[in-house]
Amino acid sequence: MRLKDCHNFQDFRRLSQRRLPGPIFNYIDGGADDETTYRHNTRAFDQCDLLPSVLTGVSDVDMSVTVMGQKLAMPFYCSPTALQRLFHHEGERAVAAAAEKYGTMFGVSSLGTVSLEELRKKHKTPQVYQFYFHKDRGLNSAMMQRAKEAGVDVMMLTVDSITGGNRERDLRTGFSIPFRLTLAGMIQFAIKPMWGINYVTHERFRLPQLEEHVDMSGGASSIGGYFSEMLDPSMNWDDVAAMVRDWDGQFCLKGIMTVEDARRAAEIGCTGIVLSNHGGRQLDGSRAPFDQLAEIVDAVGDRIDVMMDSGIQRGTHVLKALSLGAKAVGVGRHYLYPLAAAGQAGVERALHLMRAEIERDMKLMGVTRIDQLNRDNLRFRNESREQQPIGRPAA
Ligand code: LAC
Repeated sequence: MRLKDCHNFQDFRRLSQRRLPGPIFNYIDGGADDETTYRHNTRAFDQCDLLPSVLTGVSDVDMSVTVMGQKLAMPFYCSPTALQRLFHHEGERAVAAAAEKYGTMFGVSSLGTVSLEELRKKHKTPQVYQFYFHKDRGLNSAMMQRAKEAGVDVMMLTVDSITGGNRERDLRTGFSIPFRLTLAGMIQFAIKPMWGINYVTHERFRLPQLEEHVDMSGGASSIGGYFSEMLDPSMNWDDVAAMVRDWDGQFCLKGIMTVEDARRAAEIGCTGIVLSNHGGRQLDGSRAPFDQLAEIVDAVGDRIDVMMDSGIQRGTHVLKALSLGAKAVGVGRHYLYPLAAAGQAGVERALHLMRAEIERDMKLMGVTRIDQLNRDNLRFRNESREQQPIGRPAA
């Protein structure tokens, strides 16, 4: 199996599985507890169907959107994800370059492996900085200041990771940073020597967003351990309101799931929210963002930008989310498997395929612009027309 044989999410997933040592593949691939939420995220899109209009004249499709003050050539962006150089030695460099080529936004994680400054200098495309709120308030201000000076466009505070999710696959393999593996985990590395050769022959693994501020010499730490030891579980709305004032620019909360919290985000001055359950990696048994989208858009969609991530694998998933009123959607594993499989060429192929799907599906839907998508394009099964939310979502 080669890159040219990858036509969809599952193909990239399989190719990355062949290339990656088991512990690393399972870190990307896994969710929390029984992974029910992880599986449900994608299934949620199957509860409704698209209704195409025909004979509308669809020769020129424009799929651009404006979200968080950024004009994107496509309605999806690369969500911030951690540790990318562990998956492929090009890591964030590959993702940023591919995002720029396709005119979309990309995220840099606090747990990123390339510095946000380097990526900002190299690429003009909009950059999101994913922020974790640490116990050390000085560290939080220093990190914000750094992002501001670098010229980050959008601040994205993750609010669904107040403690680490229970990733049982990682417990079994011993996945941690840097590595401290169980015997079974080590065997997995031994049987994927190409990954190991690439890893040791390229630049040393670093966490440049944190290393200036945090002493990383204390040995291996699991992701769960990092969340529990470093991040501040007392973080509350007042802390975030202060951050929003401090940042004084585009600021969104990632991991909002209720109408009440969405309203609160708008009240403290956030310019956007991302409905997310962290790709099913935190609270297992939590609801899929797609299922919460309509009511949250109805409550705050006229005041702030509502985005969503978690579970998106297809162009039709993107179109369904946009029909309910999302301004754009984020993808994570969707570009991580391709990154692991083939570096920048893999990410480019994934973005290319998704763009082609969206364009084809827009034509098949009879729409040429994203603002033509609305709830009339969707029917939920087992519900009569009367029970459907009708009409366009609030602008
Ligand atoms: C994760 C964090 C680091 O899901 O975002 O592993």
